[in-house]
Amino acid sequence: MDFKRTLITSALPYANGPVHIGHMAGVYIPADIYARYLRLKGEEVLFVGGSDEHGVPVTIRAKKEGCTVQDVVDRYHGIIKKSFEDFGISFDVYSRTTSETHHQFASDFFRKLYDEGKFVEMTSEQFYDEETKQFLTDRNIKGECPRCHAEAYGDQCEKCGATLSPDELINPYNAVNGNPLVKKSTKHWYLPLDNYQEWLEQWILKEHPEWRPNVYGQCKSWLDGGLKPRAVTRDLDWGIPVPVEGAEGKVLYVWFDAPIGYISNTVELCGNEPERWGSWQKWWQDKDTRLVHFIGKDNIVFHCIVFPSMLKAHGDFIIPDNVPSNEFLNLEGDKISTSRNWAVWLNEYLVDMPGKQDVLRYVLTANAPETKDNDFTWKDYQARNNNELVAVYGNFVNRALQLTKKYYGGEVPQCGELTGKDRETIAEFRDVKQRMEALLDQFKFRDAQKEAMNLARIGNKYIADEEPWKVIKTDPERVKTVIFISLQLTANLSIAFEPFLPASSKRLREMLCMDAFRWEELGSMELLPCGKQLGEPSLLFEKIEDEVIQAQIDKLQATKKANEMESVKAEPIKPTCGYEDFEKLDIRVGTILECEKVPKMKKLLRFLIDDGLEKRTIVSGIAQYYTEPETLVGKQVLFIANFAPKEFKNGLVSEGMILSAVDADGSLVVTTVGRHVKPGSQVG
Ligand code: MF3
Ligand code: ZN
Repeated sequence: MDFKRTLITSALPYANGPVHIGHMAGVYIPADIYARYLRLKGEEVLFVGGSDEHGVPVTIRAKKEGCTVQDVVDRYHGIIKKSFEDFGISFDVYSRTTSETHHQFASDFFRKLYDEGKFVEMTSEQFYDEETKQFLTDRNIKGECPRCHAEAYGDQCEKCGATLSPDELINPYNAVNGNPLVKKSTKHWYLPLDNYQEWLEQWILKEHPEWRPNVYGQCKSWLDGGLKPRAVTRDLDWGIPVPVEGAEGKVLYVWFDAPIGYISNTVELCGNEPERWGSWQKWWQDKDTRLVHFIGKDNIVFHCIVFPSMLKAHGDFIIPDNVPSNEFLNLEGDKISTSRNWAVWLNEYLVDMPGKQDVLRYVLTANAPETKDNDFTWKDYQARNNNELVAVYGNFVNRALQLTKKYYGGEVPQCGELTGKDRETIAEFRDVKQRMEALLDQFKFRDAQKEAMNLARIGNKYIADEEPWKVIKTDPERVKTVIFISLQLTANLSIAFEPFLPASSKRLREMLCMDAFRWEELGSMELLPCGKQLGEPSLLFEKIEDEVIQAQIDKLQATKKANEMESVKAEPIKPTCGYEDFEKLDIRVGTILECEKVPKMKKLLRFLIDDGLEKRTIVSGIAQYYTEPETLVGKQVLFIANFAPKEFKNGLVSEGMILSAVDADGSLVVTTVGRHVKPGSQVG
């Protein structure tokens, strides 16, 4: 089927935290590559994004942070939007589901379906907190897991992975305040998905066999299982009020309003810039518009079954032509998790790796979880940067530009007669356009990017084989041709990489003084005419050193350790003792004068302490936790001054005991005081 224009959406991220590499690899980078590619081809494209600001996750975050829900969504909407801009995600509109336009539009959408009798009303028993007078959503209920007896959420046990319903929990309680819960009946509106079953089967299973196997497969299994009515309202005080009398305290379910956000954000854009974008109806109601949703795999059912059924029930809208969904990206072998802070957050990445947006884009596309879950590791990130971006693409471009500057003052030289090798190289470049198109049209971004990098490889090999820096001494005329071709290849690379690495492509075009460019020109050897003056060359990519990578790995290790410690319970409290027991110990503050390893005794540190009266030696078995003991000098520590002296094998005598805390992993850390005090001060 031929379409006139393409409407691209990418899942609206929850504004309950920043976005991480998993979101980028799964949704936003692929969507952006596709949007950029189509624009480059001169097609009419609209790329819609926005923040998903309703639902339970944002309310939970607000409780955790002790601020209002509005504060949370304002903050994270800002952070997320900025990250997308920084990474060159080229949304034509990025709005939010708390906007007035969205509230109105979603409310009207619901009301139309309500008025036309498209919902069924049902009353059911739900858990209720009598003290706060609130019905609780699954996520806000906790209790004992019926399977493994760990503490679990109403929808899932994170310990054993069981999918649960709150009814299955033993002793359910309010996760926020610990209150016990009762059952109370409440009325909700349901979209009878079963009514759309046949239509969905025809549309997806019969008409879209080309959808990705993971998407098609999930749809098929939902459909085979038989669809049931699904509630589209919730008892919650955050969201869009249900626009029906007698529905006080109820809001639209977040998965009902959020996808409507794609439409309302378009409405907002077209309202603001009608000359540029035309009417929103053109994008959402004209059969000539092709709708493509980019999402992660946990969103498949909502975008392929629920939202299309809503659109169908409404009747006025187009439905998606494709729903390219990715699998998940793991991080260093573990599932990415916001709550466990196991992620590389985009905003933090840019602080640690300034200017390296395209490196991350490159690596995430090279490892995109298109057909199966994939893993991101910092070592692989480093290798791809150093061995591919720097050694291949960057190296080739730099050689071509530096030689042009050196030999021809930065002017494109004249092309002479072509050799067989020249023709071969040119032919490989000519073919790539078709190959890349075939891949991009099928959403195979990983392979498409490989093609672009392969071009750089061909260029790199060409210039290495031709060795213009040697030939210049024997056959300067020939070098002109080699450099001319190398420059054309360089210009081609800026086009081929544009959808993937937009910032680098732009910089490269600046060096080439190449303002206008089109996808159609990919493969051409006439991009830079002879005699054209080029700009100043600079490096496109820089080598990333081991220390930089190690710092990132250490950061993750620290997270892992913090998570492990979280789950370790403190030791039980010892039996009660009276003051008279405590009084026997003479605990004091001492200033460390010297601290060093004891030769031949791996575990021991020797301290010389100023105890306010004299200097005393204390030996402590904590050497393995202080690799640079001298850094302790000057610090004040707590020690037991009347501890019976102890003699070690080598004759060393310890006159007291330094008090150390035992961390959850067994490591020891000396205890110290809140501010400097007089040495010898007693502790009591
Ligand atoms: N906020 C959802 C998530 O992060 C995605 C919403 S997509 C939309 O999983 F279609 F509902 F907008
Ligand atoms: Zn469990």
